Amino acid sequence: MIIAICPGSFDPIQNGHIDIIKRASMLADKVYVVIGINPDKEATFSIKEKIKMLKKALKGINNIEIAYNDGLTVDFAKKVNASLIIKGYRNLEDLKYEEDMAVLNKRLNPQIDTIILKSSLEYDNISSSSIKELVLNGEDISSFIPKQIQSMVIKKIKKSV
Ligand code: PNS
Repeated sequence: MIIAICPGSFDPIQNGHIDIIKRASMLADKVYVVIGINPDKEATFSIKEKIKMLKKALKGINNIEIAYNDGLTVDFAKKVNASLIIKGYRNLEDLKYEEDMAVLNKRLNPQIDTIILKSSLEYDNISSSSIKELVLNGEDISSFIPKQIQSMVIKKIKKSV
């Protein structure tokens, strides 16, 4: 049985993340989608809000579980017997970051491997931070965020400034 984790900030979850999670769910028997803490990013959404959004956005993918981890990603992976960390990248900047993270995680726990999937082309230009900018400038985000969480995302981003 292959168990994988998809860790991320998900601030908020957007269609590019969902694409990677769906593909991960086809590669592994079970996937934990793990809300983690990225010390380089200031979060707009609370953990509770992120869990709520992930539940709504990922409804229908049967072999996933949503979780929160405030420690090291490799420690969480070990705790749930996962052998894989699956992440996505859009461009070379992302790839460099993910590669560095993969090397570090491998050092921390050599039993756990990282797979870095190339984002599907239609999601190449989406990021959680660009979504925030679009909302604040009154632009339509319907092609970037699942319908079920759109109003929640817009409300919170507008409130956060
Ligand atoms: O969506 P992101 O911002 O790329 O997600 C980054 C995240 C949360 C996966 C990463 O920051 C992380 O793994 N944080 C937990 C702490 C950790 O394990 N750091 C790496 C080794 S120091």
